[in-house]
Amino acid sequence: MIRLTNPIVEMDGDEMARIIWGLIKERLIFPYIELNIRYFDLGIKNRDITEDMVTLEAAQAIKECGVGVKCATITPNAMRVKEYNLKKEWKSPNATIREILDGTVFRKPVLVRNIPPLVRRWKKPIIVGRHAYGDIYKSVEMKVPSSGVAELRFISQERIETEVIHRFHAPGIVMAIHNIDDSIRNFARSCINYALDEGVDIWFGAKDTISKIYHGRFRDIFSEEIQLREKDLRERGINYRYMLIDDAVAQVMKSEGGMLWACMNYDGDVMSDMIASGFGSLGLMTSVLVSPDGKFEYEAAHGTVTRHYYEYLKGNPTSTNPVASIFAWTGAIKKRAEIDKVEDAKRFALTLEDVTLKTIESGIMTKDLVDFAEPRPDRFALTEEFIDAIKLRLENALKEW
Ligand SMILES: NC(=O)c1ccc[n+]([C@@H]2O[C@H](COP(=O)([O-])OP(=O)(O)OC[C@H]3O[C@@H](n4cnc5c(N)ncnc54)[C@H](O)[C@@H]3O)[C@@H](O)[C@H]2O)c1
Repeated sequence: MIRLTNPIVEMDGDEMARIIWGLIKERLIFPYIELNIRYFDLGIKNRDITEDMVTLEAAQAIKECGVGVKCATITPNAMRVKEYNLKKEWKSPNATIREILDGTVFRKPVLVRNIPPLVRRWKKPIIVGRHAYGDIYKSVEMKVPSSGVAELRFISQERIETEVIHRFHAPGIVMAIHNIDDSIRNFARSCINYALDEGVDIWFGAKDTISKIYHGRFRDIFSEEIQLREKDLRERGINYRYMLIDDAVAQVMKSEGGMLWACMNYDGDVMSDMIASGFGSLGLMTSVLVSPDGKFEYEAAHGTVTRHYYEYLKGNPTSTNPVASIFAWTGAIKKRAEIDKVEDAKRFALTLEDVTLKTIESGIMTKDLVDFAEPRPDRFALTEEFIDAIKLRLENALKEW
């Protein structure tokens, strides 16, 4: 039996995502590899019972162990509070964990040969890294009711600085945004760690021709951090490109992919959805949170797939895509194996990824993929049927070791 002795933090989740999570563990992981799991139940009921302490403990555990894997979880709103009879609208676990690790989220699509990207030139994954602090997400804004002056003012013990934003002669609107050097620096460091890990080039785009101070600061901090790691990057053959954001968008469309696209907060919000739909289903989109000091938390980018869960509860068959969750597990196993230098565990994870792709390439796939597949299969596989088809191929592949 393959064994990884150092711990991996597992965070269980909700609804249909939790059902496929259980099936993946029971059928594709635990029979073949012995893991030292530190388990945290982040299911909504347990978060409610523990007053969300379980999320804080899980984040702390990732800090200690360095590697975590997380199932999708419900972020409660008023409707969910009623549905699950919760004490309150608990905060999104992802936001809590991201704050504690001070990490950046990278989204990477899984590419399958018979599911071609909508953009014909894309051959390799385009990974989007989104800075997740500040800008319009922490803005202060105002309606201007009449003529008057809007000012930007900074006050400290030493000085007061004032800039006129606009002299209004009629009603309008005004907004102030901010960012923090340390946060930008941590973002750049996480991007560099990720690029070194994956062996991909880094592209960064901003609008520093227009925003010379704000966007210019992002450009400068990024380039300082790149300079600091210049030797590591050169040894891995990784290039850094800074572009205007409009040029970056055009270059991404024309490229073959295979790069990390580091985006400011708003750009990342918009572009990650464009890239995700360009590559097919949410069920193929993986996500990893990387902290500036090199801690990794893997997950699927999709949510708990609520609609499928309601069908499941009625006893109806479902066809939920488990690929991104499988890749979350293989990502965590590969990372643990790499840190601990356990070759056969890494090989196991790569084998599981390979047989998952081969299963789809053989024409067996879940419903969400059928419309994108070339050729289109006659039928789609049900959730368990698909996982069992992967298991069969996994057993055959492991026999050949
Ligand atoms: N990372 C996370 O934990 C995370 C992310 C997003 C949403 N959520 C939570 O998930 C719940 C549902 O949210 P939502 O409906 O907006 O997002 P969702 O990702 O669950 O579903 C969005 C759409 O994509 C489809 N889809 C997603 N994953 C799929 C898969 N693996 N196979 C087949 N189809 C798939 C769904 O059927 C649905 O039509 C909410 O409570 C939300 O808070 C959690």
